[in-house]
Amino acid sequence: MHFYLEPGGKLVGSIRVPGDKSMSHRVIMLGAIAEGKTDVSGFLEGEDALSTLGAFRNMGVMISEPESGRLSIEGVGLRGLQAPTGIMDVGNSGTSIRLMAGLLAGQTFSSVLTGDQSLLRRPMARVITPLSQMGAVISSREGCPPLEISGGRKLRGVHYELPVASAQVKSSVLLAGLFAEGFTSVGEPAPTRDHTERMLTGFGYTVEAGSGSIGLEGGGTLQGTRVDIPADISSAAFFMVGASIAEGSDLVLEHVGINPTRDGVIRILKAMGADIESSNERDVGGEPVADLRIRSAPLRGIDIPVEEVPLAIDELPAILIAAACAEGATVLRGAEELRVKESDRIASMAEGLTQLGISNTVHADGITVIGGDIDGGVIATHHDHRIAMSFAMAALRASNRIKVSDCAHVATSFPGFAELAARVGLRLEVADT
Ligand code: S3P
Repeated sequence: MHFYLEPGGKLVGSIRVPGDKSMSHRVIMLGAIAEGKTDVSGFLEGEDALSTLGAFRNMGVMISEPESGRLSIEGVGLRGLQAPTGIMDVGNSGTSIRLMAGLLAGQTFSSVLTGDQSLLRRPMARVITPLSQMGAVISSREGCPPLEISGGRKLRGVHYELPVASAQVKSSVLLAGLFAEGFTSVGEPAPTRDHTERMLTGFGYTVEAGSGSIGLEGGGTLQGTRVDIPADISSAAFFMVGASIAEGSDLVLEHVGINPTRDGVIRILKAMGADIESSNERDVGGEPVADLRIRSAPLRGIDIPVEEVPLAIDELPAILIAAACAEGATVLRGAEELRVKESDRIASMAEGLTQLGISNTVHADGITVIGGDIDGGVIATHHDHRIAMSFAMAALRASNRIKVSDCAHVATSFPGFAELAARVGLRLEVADT
């Protein structure tokens, strides 16, 4: 499946992008091990979150079929999961495999987690190391999936200092901590998304958060609850960039999650000169939400502050498209984590930008992009959803047609992207050949 984009256009209208991916994974996991029922709205019916949903059904949890983002989970309690039938395949989803590794490490039964070609190349030592310190026994294929998690191990609480700022690793350790004896805590070198902590609190579980450290006591109880998941700021980011770079745009993104550990993209784009106005700010189930109005504005290159990198980690490909349309150089450093995402996003972005005639220099930990005129061309996505959607937005400023090849993975995080983008003005058509 490929995207074909005619050059030009502008983004106008008011839309709500699908639900937050990180929260959708977590609500299934926490709802499953809670006591009683959890009702969810705003659930992302994308392939990644559905992989998590399928895995928990496989462990005996009754979860209703999602319908327009609504579903309910019949929690089985902390000790109620059943041994899965066969290997659990979580597709493309790094969040599923890393968080579930923690949750499964403390079960009485053994389990095996695997995924698609991209996931089979992604590093898992980062979760195996701390989980092993807690007493888990997990084998991998040279640090990559499949993961074989031995059941019947007694876990003990530890303090673990994260060597890289990773919410997935933090969450994996905290989820294992629910099943451990004593207190489990994690120290972060820099703040990362805190949805696990917030949602645990929403399920009535006590989480202690101090300066750069988050901890919990094992063996407590989660209470089923209601969770309203806001629109995913990571999906909104493509439209923020599109509306900023396409002259004459005026777009409202409704009900977007603006958690301060996720909203680096707004600060970075504003620092580049973007016109983003936030209104109707409110708290929805412990998560801040707002409507965002974006009008096109001339952008200038900046040095992206290193401390913003973990707070905008999934939005950096889209931000690099803004950089391509900005006056002067944009410098991204301290972003080596991009190399181990669904693709090597530094290499994928550099290759695509070069294809479109945008000059750039690759660094081990980032990239420098010089704004300029965007030409047409054929973009390889390396089967990475965020690379595909970022380059689709580049067409708004291109002088010729762009083909974005192999876009099927867009469905992992943003089902309906092509239709929604076309509705607000992107000149996008989808074809199989
Ligand atoms: C996520 C954390 C981030 C992010 C990923 C989702 C999460 O990964 O890139 O898309 O839901 O916890 P890292 O923890 O590897 O930075």
